[in-house]
Amino acid sequence: MATKTRKDLGEVISEHNHKTVYVKDGVITKVFDHKFYDGSFAFKEAMYQQYAYECKISVPQVYGVFQVGEDWAISSQEIKGKTLAQMMAEDPEHKKKYVVELVKIHIQLLSRLSSNLMLPKLKDKLNSYISDSGLSSSTRYDLHVKLEKMPNHYKFCHGDFFPQNVIFDETGKYYILNWAHVTRGNASADASMTYLLFLLNGDEKAANTYLREFCKKTYTNESYVQQWISVCSAAKLKSVSDEAQKKLLLDNIDVVEY
Ligand SMILES: Nc1ncnc2c1ncn2[C@@H]1O[C@H](COP(=O)(O)OP(=O)(O)O)[C@@H](O)[C@H]1O
Ligand SMILES: [Mg+2]
Repeated sequence: MATKTRKDLGEVISEHNHKTVYVKDGVITKVFDHKFYDGSFAFKEAMYQQYAYECKISVPQVYGVFQVGEDWAISSQEIKGKTLAQMMAEDPEHKKKYVVELVKIHIQLLSRLSSNLMLPKLKDKLNSYISDSGLSSSTRYDLHVKLEKMPNHYKFCHGDFFPQNVIFDETGKYYILNWAHVTRGNASADASMTYLLFLLNGDEKAANTYLREFCKKTYTNESYVQQWISVCSAAKLKSVSDEAQKKLLLDNIDVVEY
């Protein structure tokens, strides 16, 4: 079968972590560099996105998974509009409004239960990231023990819920992007991850606004969300290369309670 080449895929709209997103004629193609991602990674993300679609979560429709030279790619419906991140960048004076919107959408997603075996358990995933974190064996042990004590739950956790991954079309309808990290688990852990993503992005003010709003709207104690921060930080360690970001994660891991 003749495979497509990158030239067939249209204009590049995003390049990030060895993934390139193209758009052409209403079709988005996300190409995964084979030196960093196996084909199964693309199939897995497409499968989770399709599962979310079947659960009637607002996501772009998946069209297929195919090869582009040696790389694998997912094609899906283009949502013509702007991400929450673009809106925040264009209208920084009203950033709070967009963070509040992000919280609202996150709560809608996290209000769903999923016991579907297709989704990995959040705790399994976090345990595996802790094991691969490169931290000392005693710190890893403490983190595994801490994680074990945390409540389970089976909420639809996105794993990378952030303004770049929420897009609004021209009618104001939102769609959630980027389904590679979805799991079933504790909603506060997913909120803690979003809080951490804001901190990693250098936006402490938005992180605090997010945390306050999330806790207010879900009647959750802020300390309950904060309890997840050490395991979430350990989980992110391998994926950051920036020294300042690494330090931020290590500082958060330090707060393990004995
Ligand atoms: N279906 C889509 N419609 C419109 N824009 C999209 C779509 N999918 C991705 N994008 C754009 O490409 C960016 C990166 O896509 P994403 O799937 O989040 O990849 P990554 O894993 O690199 O974060 C998004 O933040 C958004 O701006
Ligand atoms: Mg993304």
